[in-house]
Order: sequence, then C-alpha cells, then structure tokens
Amino acid sequence: SNKITIAIDGHSSTGKSTIAKQIANKLGYVYVDSGAMYRAVTLYAMKQGLINEDDFNIEALIDQLNKIDISFKFNENLGFAEVYLNDENVEKAIRTLEVSGFVSKVAAVSEVRKKLVAIQQQIGNDKGVVMDGRDIGTVVFPDAELKIFMTASAETRAERRYKELIDRGDDVIYENVLKNVQERDYLDSTRKDSPLIKADDAIEIDNSNLSLQEQHDKVLGLVTKMI
Ligand code: C5P
Repeated sequence: SNKITIAIDGHSSTGKSTIAKQIANKLGYVYVDSGAMYRAVTLYAMKQGLINEDDFNIEALIDQLNKIDISFKFNENLGFAEVYLNDENVEKAIRTLEVSGFVSKVAAVSEVRKKLVAIQQQIGNDKGVVMDGRDIGTVVFPDAELKIFMTASAETRAERRYKELIDRGDDVIYENVLKNVQERDYLDSTRKDSPLIKADDAIEIDNSNLSLQEQHDKVLGLVTKMI
C-alpha cells in the first residue's frame, strides 16, 4: 500500500505522543518518540556527572557521544517501542522532572542533534512511520507527506503533565511543572540549531479544548485523505 511519513511537532506536553502512538497503531506504522532520544542522552550526561544544577560540560559530552547507543525495542504489552540507553531500558527513568529540567540544554548541542537526527532518518527510511518531536517536519523529514503542528496553552499543558507525574507517584508541585514547560518552550523556540517552528506546510491543531477522541479523529481524517 501507499505508506507515508507523518511528522508531529509542537511544544512540550501537547499530547503529541499519545496521538502519534494511536495513529501508528491504527495504521500499523512504526511510532518513534524523538524526544525520548534527547532525554536518554540527557540521562547519560547526568549519570556521568557531566550536567548538574550549575554546570554542563558540553565538551565532555561531545567527546563521549560515540559511547552512547540509543535504540528502541517494541514492548508487546504496552503496544509501543521503549527507548534503550546502552541496552538498558530507560523509558521510565527519562520521564522525571529532573531530566525535563536539563533536556533542552542538551538538545541545543548541534553534535547531539546530528547524531540523533541520523538515527531518526534511518528508522524512517522505509516510510510507514509516525514521529513526534520539535524538528521532524522541518529538519528530520522535510518531505513528510503529512505534517501536524500541535499547540495548547502552557497552563493546559502543565496541568496535563502535572497529572501524569502525580499519577505515576512523583512528588511534584504544579508551579514547577508549569515553570519547566515555559522554560522548555523558550529554549526550544530560541535555540540556533533546529528551533521549534511550525513548518510552512504543517497543519496546526490547537487541542486545548479537544478530547483525545476528537484529536484522533481529526488526525486520522487527514491521514485517510493521503493514503
Ligand atoms: O517530546 P519531549 O517533551 O519528551 O522532548 C524533550 C525535549 O527534547 C524537548 O523539550 C526538546 O528540548 C528536545 N527535543 C528536540 N527535538 C526533538 C524532540 C525533542 O530538541 N525532535
């Protein structure tokens, strides 16, 4: 059949991954969470002591990039691929507010981006992929047949992320989650290399007032027109 590439970009916590996963499962496509890859590199840097509150040893991280292996393995029970850092499943470890606090700094490093974009393009080589992130429609797959740009107010997004973190047992306060969302919006949109920006040919969906079902139907409607 006529397999396409679907790029879903947008700000932090817009619910991109939920929709991307659903659409991928529906179509039998591969889902790739590109943010998980930047988070895994961040976790590596934290574990090696290369990044902490007041210091980020960028040079050391660049030196060690060839020691970092990032891969995905499909989990039958969850129905999506989990991310592995040097063969260790880090799917849960990369979702902490601490990793979220550093990831945009790591993602601003061009050498890191170059490495991860190459892996992403390799995975998407055969099409039939739904990838979410910040630069998928602009840099990773500029020729993607379908590009979605998801938006929602910072407060809506922070509430969703807060609920997620509380549900998994993390001890966080809402104000800090909101602060992190706003900080990442700023860093991701203003960095020099591959800033978060809506591709000219992307379709914008503001999901502040849309249910998951409505978002799903909307995206699936767009896909159906293309395949
Ligand atoms: O999607 P998620 O919020 O998990 O991504 C975490 C961070 O990784 C983002 O805030 C951004 O700094 C970075 N990222 C990126 N490019 C991507 C995906 C994520 O710079 N394609």
